[in-house]
Amino acid sequence: MPRISINGVAHDIDADPQMPLLWVIRDILGMTGTKFGCGVGACGACTVHIDGSATRSCITALADAAGHEVTTIEGLSPDGGHPVQKAWVAHNVPQCGYCQAGQIMQAADLIKQTPNPSEQQIIDAMSGNICRCGTYQRIRAAITAAMDVHASTQSSSKAG
Ligand code: FES
Ligand code: FES
Repeated sequence: MPRISINGVAHDIDADPQMPLLWVIRDILGMTGTKFGCGVGACGACTVHIDGSATRSCITALADAAGHEVTTIEGLSPDGGHPVQKAWVAHNVPQCGYCQAGQIMQAADLIKQTPNPSEQQIIDAMSGNICRCGTYQRIRAAITAAMDVHASTQSSSKAG
């Protein structure tokens, strides 16, 4: 039986090993923050982190996630206090909200991997996350703000 760790909790999943991770997360574990959009890796709504990297859970088989650490939007921070989440609130990013968990997970990966991304790097990194409401400008502004908070947190933790 495949065992996966989601948000730090191990689960033995009694399902076909080829089942998409997204179905496991939503339908078996009942964690509905991660959304189904296209099911073919083309919209980003289902983005989670696997071992810290943004990954499309709709095209990731349960078997491939087994043995790795999966983080969903519910586990990004214990209190919604991740710099990206705070910036999303400050910039009032969501409209209908459907794509936003995926956008936030993608953005969190970006600011971790590329601490000081250029405007073009932000556009490129976020280009696979579709928002039918067209919140792209607010997303970019929020990522820039989150980057600054992330950088100051990193420098103060180094100083401490
Ligand atoms: S639902 Fe996974 S990329 Fe669209
Ligand atoms: S906020 Fe509606 S799809 Fe992005």
